[in-house]
Amino acid sequence: MGALDDFVVGEPRQLHVADKVLVGVRIDDEVFVLDDRCSHEEFPLSEGTVDLYSCEIECARHGAMFRLRDGEPMSLPATKPVGYYEVAIRDGRVEVFVP
Ligand code: FES
Repeated sequence: MGALDDFVVGEPRQLHVADKVLVGVRIDDEVFVLDDRCSHEEFPLSEGTVDLYSCEIECARHGAMFRLRDGEPMSLPATKPVGYYEVAIRDGRVEVFVP
């Protein structure tokens, strides 16, 4: 999926892995990966903004917040989670596990 150094802290980055469109967000030396599709009206979360303190991403369309760690919705209008993926960082490389 690329080098950890390719990810700027707090800047969502769209990723294409297998047949999926994902969004990756780096916070410190961790990377979180979710489906790049808001569960409210399918807007790309990669266009949203990240709250580094709460470790959440805000959808740019209507403002729903999602927890980066597990994709759970933290505010309306979203009520359903978005998919999240396990990530490993090995030797400075980011690997995402897509089932
Ligand atoms: S499309 Fe994301 S909050 Fe509505």
